[in-house]
Amino acid sequence: MISINANIGLPGPVDLSSLPDDQTALVIRNLNLYYGNTQALFDINMRIPKGKVTAFIGPSGCGKSTLLRCINRMNDLVDGCKVDGEILLHGTNVYDEKIDVPALRRQVGMVFQRPNPFPKSIYENVIYGLRLQGVKNVRTLDDAVERSLRAAALWDEVKDRLHDNAFGLSGGQQQRLVIARAIAIEPEVLLLDEPTSALDPISTLTIEELINDLKRRYTVVIVTHNMQQAARVSDQTAFINLGKLVEYADTDTLFTTPKNKQTEDYITGRYG
Ligand SMILES: Nc1ncnc2c1ncn2[C@@H]1O[C@H](COP(=O)(O)OP(=O)(O)OP(=O)(O)O)[C@@H](O)[C@H]1O
Ligand SMILES: [Mg+2]
Repeated sequence: MISINANIGLPGPVDLSSLPDDQTALVIRNLNLYYGNTQALFDINMRIPKGKVTAFIGPSGCGKSTLLRCINRMNDLVDGCKVDGEILLHGTNVYDEKIDVPALRRQVGMVFQRPNPFPKSIYENVIYGLRLQGVKNVRTLDDAVERSLRAAALWDEVKDRLHDNAFGLSGGQQQRLVIARAIAIEPEVLLLDEPTSALDPISTLTIEELINDLKRRYTVVIVTHNMQQAARVSDQTAFINLGKLVEYADTDTLFTTPKNKQTEDYITGRYG
Protein backbone atom coordinates (compact mmCIF):
# COMPACT_ATOMS: atom_id res chain seq x y z
CA MET A 1 0.00 0.00 0.00
CA ILE A 2 2.67 2.48 0.95
CA SER A 3 6.23 1.85 -0.10
CA ILE A 4 6.77 0.36 -3.52
CA ASN A 5 10.55 0.56 -3.13
CA ALA A 6 10.58 -2.14 -0.52
CA ASN A 7 8.98 -4.55 -2.98
CA ILE A 8 11.34 -7.40 -3.69
CA GLY A 9 9.84 -7.78 -7.16
CA LEU A 10 9.76 -5.11 -9.83
CA PRO A 11 6.84 -2.72 -10.14
CA GLY A 12 4.56 -3.19 -13.13
CA PRO A 13 3.80 -6.19 -15.30
CA VAL A 14 6.49 -8.77 -15.93
CA ASP A 15 7.02 -10.89 -18.99
CA LEU A 16 5.96 -14.25 -17.61
CA SER A 17 7.30 -16.26 -20.51
CA SER A 18 10.87 -15.08 -20.10
CA LEU A 19 11.00 -14.21 -16.43
CA PRO A 20 14.65 -14.29 -15.30
CA ASP A 21 15.56 -16.70 -12.51
CA ASP A 22 16.38 -13.94 -10.03
CA GLN A 23 12.80 -12.63 -10.31
CA THR A 24 11.24 -16.08 -10.14
CA ALA A 25 9.98 -17.65 -6.92
CA LEU A 26 8.72 -20.92 -8.39
CA VAL A 27 8.99 -22.77 -11.65
CA ILE A 28 6.32 -25.38 -12.31
CA ARG A 29 7.37 -27.78 -15.05
CA ASN A 30 5.37 -30.50 -16.77
CA LEU A 31 3.27 -31.09 -13.70
CA ASN A 32 0.69 -33.87 -13.87
CA LEU A 33 -1.29 -35.05 -10.87
CA TYR A 34 -3.49 -38.09 -10.37
CA TYR A 35 -5.94 -38.96 -7.61
CA GLY A 36 -5.91 -42.75 -8.04
CA ASN A 37 -6.72 -43.32 -11.71
CA THR A 38 -8.21 -39.88 -12.24
CA GLN A 39 -5.94 -37.21 -13.61
CA ALA A 40 -6.63 -33.83 -11.98
CA LEU A 41 -3.79 -31.68 -13.39
CA PHE A 42 -2.47 -31.87 -16.95
CA ASP A 43 1.00 -30.71 -17.92
CA ILE A 44 1.09 -27.44 -15.99
CA ASN A 45 4.01 -25.14 -16.86
CA MET A 46 4.38 -21.72 -15.30
CA ARG A 47 6.81 -19.34 -13.62
CA ILE A 48 5.58 -17.56 -10.52
CA PRO A 49 7.29 -14.20 -9.93
CA LYS A 50 8.93 -13.29 -6.65
CA GLY A 51 7.38 -10.59 -4.46
CA LYS A 52 4.15 -10.49 -6.44
CA VAL A 53 0.64 -11.81 -5.97
CA THR A 54 -0.40 -14.56 -8.37
CA ALA A 55 -4.08 -15.55 -8.48
CA PHE A 56 -5.49 -18.91 -9.60
CA ILE A 57 -9.04 -18.62 -10.90
CA GLY A 58 -11.37 -21.10 -12.57
CA PRO A 59 -14.60 -23.02 -12.08
CA SER A 60 -15.20 -25.24 -9.06
CA GLY A 61 -13.38 -28.56 -9.34
CA CYS A 62 -10.92 -27.34 -12.00
CA GLY A 63 -7.86 -28.05 -9.83
CA LYS A 64 -6.97 -24.71 -8.23
CA SER A 65 -6.58 -26.06 -4.69
CA THR A 66 -4.86 -29.16 -6.02
CA LEU A 67 -2.25 -27.06 -7.82
CA LEU A 68 -1.77 -24.84 -4.78
CA ARG A 69 -1.30 -27.85 -2.51
CA CYS A 70 1.38 -29.25 -4.82
CA ILE A 71 3.61 -26.30 -4.03
CA ASN A 72 4.19 -27.28 -0.41
CA ARG A 73 3.41 -30.96 -0.94
CA MET A 74 0.20 -30.95 1.06
CA ASN A 75 -1.09 -33.50 -1.47
CA ASP A 76 1.39 -35.99 0.02
CA LEU A 77 -1.21 -36.39 2.76
CA VAL A 78 -3.83 -37.62 0.26
CA ASP A 79 -3.88 -41.40 -0.22
CA GLY A 80 -3.41 -42.48 -3.81
CA CYS A 81 -2.26 -39.07 -5.00
CA LYS A 82 0.62 -39.20 -7.47
CA VAL A 83 2.55 -36.27 -8.88
CA ASP A 84 4.89 -36.20 -11.89
CA GLY A 85 6.93 -33.26 -13.04
CA GLU A 86 8.79 -30.62 -11.11
CA ILE A 87 8.25 -27.58 -8.95
CA LEU A 88 11.48 -25.68 -8.51
CA LEU A 89 12.05 -23.44 -5.50
CA HIS A 90 15.48 -21.79 -5.80
CA GLY A 91 16.27 -24.28 -8.52
CA THR A 92 15.60 -27.29 -6.27
CA ASN A 93 12.75 -29.62 -7.13
CA VAL A 94 10.42 -29.81 -4.12
CA TYR A 95 9.54 -33.34 -5.28
CA ASP A 96 13.16 -34.47 -5.07
CA GLU A 97 13.32 -37.47 -2.73
CA LYS A 98 15.99 -35.74 -0.62
CA ILE A 99 13.71 -32.80 0.21
CA ASP A 100 12.98 -32.27 3.89
CA VAL A 101 9.20 -31.76 3.67
CA PRO A 102 8.70 -30.06 7.08
CA ALA A 103 11.47 -27.61 6.13
CA LEU A 104 9.76 -27.02 2.77
CA ARG A 105 6.52 -26.20 4.60
CA ARG A 106 8.37 -23.66 6.70
CA GLN A 107 9.53 -21.96 3.50
CA VAL A 108 6.13 -22.27 1.85
CA GLY A 109 3.35 -21.47 4.33
CA MET A 110 -0.32 -22.11 3.71
CA VAL A 111 -3.63 -20.64 4.84
CA PHE A 112 -6.85 -22.52 4.18
CA GLN A 113 -10.33 -21.44 3.21
CA ARG A 114 -11.73 -21.79 6.72
CA PRO A 115 -9.62 -20.31 9.49
CA ASN A 116 -8.25 -23.14 11.60
CA PRO A 117 -6.87 -21.67 14.81
CA PHE A 118 -5.72 -24.23 17.38
CA PRO A 119 -7.60 -24.47 20.70
CA LYS A 120 -4.97 -22.34 22.39
CA SER A 121 -4.44 -18.70 23.22
CA ILE A 122 -3.92 -16.08 20.53
CA TYR A 123 -0.28 -15.86 21.64
CA GLU A 124 0.32 -19.61 21.44
CA ASN A 125 -1.34 -19.80 18.03
CA VAL A 126 1.06 -17.24 16.59
CA ILE A 127 4.21 -18.88 17.96
CA TYR A 128 3.10 -22.45 17.28
CA GLY A 129 5.68 -22.93 14.52
CA LEU A 130 8.46 -21.30 16.53
CA ARG A 131 7.75 -23.62 19.48
CA LEU A 132 7.99 -26.57 17.09
CA GLN A 133 11.38 -25.26 16.04
CA GLY A 134 12.41 -25.23 19.72
CA VAL A 135 12.55 -21.44 20.18
CA LYS A 136 12.32 -20.76 23.94
CA ASN A 137 13.58 -17.22 24.44
CA VAL A 138 10.61 -15.24 25.76
CA ARG A 139 11.79 -11.97 24.24
CA THR A 140 12.12 -13.61 20.81
CA LEU A 141 8.66 -15.12 21.12
CA ASP A 142 7.08 -11.87 22.32
CA ASP A 143 8.70 -10.00 19.44
CA ALA A 144 7.48 -12.57 16.92
CA VAL A 145 3.93 -12.29 18.26
CA GLU A 146 3.86 -8.52 17.96
CA ARG A 147 5.59 -8.43 14.57
CA SER A 148 3.33 -11.11 13.05
CA LEU A 149 0.11 -9.71 14.46
CA ARG A 150 1.03 -6.24 13.24
CA ALA A 151 1.85 -7.63 9.80
CA ALA A 152 -1.52 -9.39 9.79
CA ALA A 153 -3.31 -6.15 10.75
CA LEU A 154 -4.61 -7.72 13.97
CA TRP A 155 -2.33 -6.36 16.71
CA ASP A 156 -4.45 -3.40 17.74
CA GLU A 157 -7.54 -5.54 18.11
CA VAL A 158 -5.94 -8.24 20.26
CA LYS A 159 -2.95 -6.73 22.06
CA ASP A 160 -4.83 -6.62 25.38
CA ARG A 161 -6.14 -10.17 25.14
CA LEU A 162 -3.18 -12.16 23.82
CA HIS A 163 -3.72 -14.93 26.37
CA ASP A 164 -7.41 -15.39 25.61
CA ASN A 165 -8.53 -18.40 23.61
CA ALA A 166 -8.37 -17.86 19.85
CA PHE A 167 -11.87 -19.28 19.45
CA GLY A 168 -13.18 -16.07 20.99
CA LEU A 169 -12.17 -14.12 17.87
CA SER A 170 -14.53 -13.33 15.00
CA GLY A 171 -14.15 -15.22 11.70
CA GLY A 172 -12.28 -12.35 10.06
CA GLN A 173 -10.00 -12.02 13.08
CA GLN A 174 -9.37 -15.78 13.10
CA GLN A 175 -8.42 -15.62 9.42
CA ARG A 176 -5.95 -12.83 10.16
CA LEU A 177 -4.67 -14.87 13.14
CA VAL A 178 -3.89 -17.89 10.97
CA ILE A 179 -2.16 -15.57 8.49
CA ALA A 180 -0.10 -14.22 11.44
CA ARG A 181 0.69 -17.82 12.41
CA ALA A 182 1.80 -18.57 8.85
CA ILE A 183 4.08 -15.52 8.64
CA ALA A 184 5.54 -15.88 12.16
CA ILE A 185 8.01 -18.43 10.81
CA GLU A 186 8.89 -16.07 7.94
CA PRO A 187 8.10 -18.23 4.93
CA GLU A 188 9.24 -17.08 1.50
CA VAL A 189 6.04 -18.07 -0.19
CA LEU A 190 2.53 -17.80 1.21
CA LEU A 191 -0.25 -19.92 -0.28
CA LEU A 192 -3.80 -18.69 0.38
CA ASP A 193 -6.71 -20.94 -0.59
CA GLU A 194 -9.84 -18.76 -0.82
CA PRO A 195 -8.91 -16.89 2.35
CA THR A 196 -11.95 -14.61 2.32
CA SER A 197 -14.72 -16.90 1.11
CA ALA A 198 -16.27 -17.11 4.57
CA LEU A 199 -15.88 -13.42 5.41
CA ASP A 200 -18.04 -10.31 5.27
CA PRO A 201 -17.08 -7.45 2.90
CA ILE A 202 -15.27 -5.42 5.57
CA SER A 203 -13.12 -8.33 6.76
CA THR A 204 -12.53 -9.22 3.10
CA LEU A 205 -11.25 -5.74 2.43
CA THR A 206 -8.94 -5.93 5.45
CA ILE A 207 -7.49 -9.22 4.21
CA GLU A 208 -7.09 -7.84 0.68
CA GLU A 209 -5.19 -4.82 2.02
CA LEU A 210 -3.08 -7.20 4.04
CA ILE A 211 -2.26 -9.30 0.95
CA ASN A 212 -1.24 -6.17 -0.89
CA ASP A 213 1.06 -5.30 1.97
CA LEU A 214 2.46 -8.83 2.37
CA LYS A 215 3.82 -8.98 -1.15
CA ARG A 216 6.45 -6.46 -0.17
CA ARG A 217 8.06 -9.31 1.75
CA TYR A 218 6.61 -12.52 0.41
CA THR A 219 5.56 -14.17 -2.77
CA VAL A 220 1.83 -14.75 -2.49
CA VAL A 221 -0.24 -17.28 -4.43
CA ILE A 222 -3.99 -16.96 -3.90
CA VAL A 223 -6.90 -19.09 -5.05
CA THR A 224 -10.08 -17.13 -5.41
CA HIS A 225 -13.53 -17.63 -6.86
CA ASN A 226 -14.08 -13.96 -6.87
CA MET A 227 -12.86 -12.34 -10.08
CA GLN A 228 -13.13 -8.83 -8.67
CA GLN A 229 -10.86 -9.97 -5.89
CA ALA A 230 -8.35 -11.43 -8.36
CA ALA A 231 -8.46 -8.14 -10.26
CA ARG A 232 -7.98 -6.14 -7.04
CA VAL A 233 -5.20 -8.08 -5.36
CA SER A 234 -3.16 -9.90 -7.96
CA ASP A 235 -0.37 -8.88 -10.30
CA GLN A 236 -0.84 -11.89 -12.55
CA THR A 237 -3.66 -14.34 -12.96
CA ALA A 238 -3.79 -17.95 -14.09
CA PHE A 239 -7.07 -19.26 -15.48
CA ILE A 240 -7.38 -22.99 -14.93
CA ASN A 241 -10.07 -25.16 -16.46
CA LEU A 242 -10.52 -28.93 -16.29
CA GLY A 243 -7.06 -29.36 -14.79
CA LYS A 244 -5.29 -27.38 -17.51
CA LEU A 245 -3.63 -23.99 -17.38
CA VAL A 246 -5.62 -22.24 -20.08
CA GLU A 247 -4.15 -18.77 -19.84
CA TYR A 248 -1.66 -17.00 -17.63
CA ALA A 249 -0.91 -13.32 -17.96
CA ASP A 250 -0.59 -10.12 -16.03
CA THR A 251 -3.94 -9.47 -14.39
CA ASP A 252 -4.94 -6.39 -16.36
CA THR A 253 -4.26 -8.13 -19.65
CA LEU A 254 -6.07 -11.32 -18.68
CA PHE A 255 -9.18 -9.42 -17.60
CA THR A 256 -9.25 -6.86 -20.41
CA THR A 257 -7.87 -8.68 -23.45
CA PRO A 258 -7.86 -12.42 -22.82
CA LYS A 259 -6.36 -14.40 -25.68
CA ASN A 260 -8.31 -17.56 -25.14
CA LYS A 261 -12.03 -17.96 -25.80
CA GLN A 262 -12.49 -20.11 -22.66
CA THR A 263 -10.93 -17.38 -20.52
CA GLU A 264 -13.11 -14.75 -22.13
CA ASP A 265 -16.26 -16.82 -21.57
CA TYR A 266 -15.32 -17.41 -17.94
CA ILE A 267 -14.49 -13.84 -17.03
CA THR A 268 -17.55 -12.49 -18.75
CA GLY A 269 -19.78 -14.99 -16.97
CA ARG A 270 -20.69 -16.94 -20.11
CA TYR A 271 -19.03 -20.10 -18.88
CA GLY A 272 -20.86 -23.44 -18.74
N1 LIG B 1 -8.47 -35.78 -1.98
C1 LIG B 1 -8.99 -35.98 -3.18
N2 LIG B 1 -9.22 -37.23 -3.63
C2 LIG B 1 -9.75 -37.44 -4.85
N3 LIG B 1 -10.08 -36.47 -5.72
C3 LIG B 1 -9.87 -35.21 -5.33
C4 LIG B 1 -9.31 -34.89 -4.05
N4 LIG B 1 -9.23 -33.54 -3.94
C5 LIG B 1 -9.71 -33.04 -5.10
N5 LIG B 1 -10.09 -34.04 -5.93
C6 LIG B 1 -10.64 -33.88 -7.28
O1 LIG B 1 -9.72 -33.15 -8.08
C7 LIG B 1 -10.39 -32.19 -8.88
C8 LIG B 1 -9.86 -30.80 -8.56
O2 LIG B 1 -10.25 -30.47 -7.23
P1 LIG B 1 -9.79 -29.14 -6.49
O3 LIG B 1 -10.22 -29.25 -5.07
O4 LIG B 1 -8.36 -28.91 -6.77
O5 LIG B 1 -10.67 -28.06 -7.29
P2 LIG B 1 -10.84 -26.50 -7.04
O6 LIG B 1 -10.57 -25.84 -8.35
O7 LIG B 1 -10.04 -26.07 -5.86
O8 LIG B 1 -12.39 -26.40 -6.73
P3 LIG B 1 -13.20 -25.40 -5.72
O9 LIG B 1 -13.24 -24.09 -6.43
O10 LIG B 1 -14.56 -26.03 -5.62
O11 LIG B 1 -12.48 -25.38 -4.41
C9 LIG B 1 -11.88 -32.35 -8.60
O12 LIG B 1 -12.41 -33.18 -9.59
C10 LIG B 1 -11.90 -33.02 -7.25
O13 LIG B 1 -13.05 -33.82 -7.11
MG1 LIG C 1 -10.55 -25.35 -3.95
